[in-house]
Amino acid sequence: MKKCLICKNNFEPFISFGMMPIANGFLPSEKFDEEYFFELQAGFCSSCKTVQLVNQPKREMMFHDNYAFFSSTSKGMANHFRLLAENTMKKYLAQNDNNFVVEIGCNDGILLKHFAKAGINHIGVEPSLNVALEANKNGVNTISEFFDENVAKKIIDKYGNADLILAANVMCHIPYIHSVMAGIKKLLKPKGVFIFEDPYLGDIVEKTSYDQIYDEHVFYFSITSVNNLLKYYDLEIIDIFHQKVHGGSMRYLVSHKGKRNISDSVIKQIRKEEEIGLNLLQTYDNLRKRIEKSRDQLIKILKDINEKGKRVVGYAATSKSTTVINYCGINKNLLEYICDTTPIKQGLFTPGAHIPVKPYSEFLNNYPDYALLFAWNHFDEIWTKEHNYNKIGKWVLYVPEVKII
Ligand code: SAH
Ligand code: TYD
Repeated sequence: MKKCLICKNNFEPFISFGMMPIANGFLPSEKFDEEYFFELQAGFCSSCKTVQLVNQPKREMMFHDNYAFFSSTSKGMANHFRLLAENTMKKYLAQNDNNFVVEIGCNDGILLKHFAKAGINHIGVEPSLNVALEANKNGVNTISEFFDENVAKKIIDKYGNADLILAANVMCHIPYIHSVMAGIKKLLKPKGVFIFEDPYLGDIVEKTSYDQIYDEHVFYFSITSVNNLLKYYDLEIIDIFHQKVHGGSMRYLVSHKGKRNISDSVIKQIRKEEEIGLNLLQTYDNLRKRIEKSRDQLIKILKDINEKGKRVVGYAATSKSTTVINYCGINKNLLEYICDTTPIKQGLFTPGAHIPVKPYSEFLNNYPDYALLFAWNHFDEIWTKEHNYNKIGKWVLYVPEVKII
């Protein structure tokens, strides 16, 4: 039995992926012996309807001065955040110089740099120092801390309250969510808007995208569960926008209760979540069965390719790949290496399975017979970029189903 991080009621895990390393913990061979593992399990709280991890490593083990995820490595994401910045500036900031924008988890400044360029007062809160320094280089003011109620108070004392608070792919990372929410409640001006987005539970269930489940993602939110969280703070969802990014995300627009109109789409999506069973434990038992089937199919495909003497490499050493590789038991015999464009991952080995991570040029210079696509969420971008490979090589996909194309 575990206590729900949102409502404190007891819940049980519906799946265990076994012992897992830190998802972004790419490492050199000298560090293999000291690698940290924990049991990756996910559960569903029947009381507040939140899907969440059962255990999570300490935050400093995941977010530090050598964090491997740089948001700006994806052109698609850069474009996505540029559009978000343009839309929100127009819609939610007044035409004066007094605006103040706060971003939680600004990473390398992929989103906040647009506000900086427009001369808007802003601050990004980013605990991983190496990516925060990259944001600084992009003209973004940052403080390298973990956002919580105390940091919110410090920001209010120094800069005042915020017209706009942004948080992309970070609310779902934070187990001390109540402290974060208490901070947001205080920091947000009476008519201010808090906009956040995270991978959407409805997509994870629909696509069996179990690789979204890893150490950093402690929550898998739905509209219903977010609503249940916001109720503690007299905040409410005023609008939602489904996004294609990260395999299907939901953007939530939030304000103080009663300050803005609530869009019909919020009510509609809450009903849809009931219809598709997101609030039922049975849905997650079924999800586990599909995950097990997906694992068995993927490993069979890789073994078949291996037996035919063909080459298969991984494409993109994503955080998500750590769950797939270690849960399915993919090893160096089945996957030659993984190519990735992020310089600090190159030359290191993947967490747990210790498959080499090589520069992207390795792939370009010697195309394999098959590429296992770990960045399936960037499929369109990669498919376009790899038009030459597409003529001769094949892709192995595992979301929404295991197949070769
Ligand atoms: N917003 C970016 C980065 C998402 S990755 C994007 O969407 O691409 C999550 C980021 O949140 C990491 O950079 C991590 O260092 C940061 N983070 C983790 N806990 C945090 C906290 N308590 N406060 C602020 N940022 C946090
Ligand atoms: P993403 O799906 O955002 O990763 P995560 O699962 O960690 O959230 O993908 C980012 C990673 O994928 C990053 O290591 C860079 C790599 N990548 C490539 O190597 N080539 C590409 O064309 C793309 C889009 C990503």
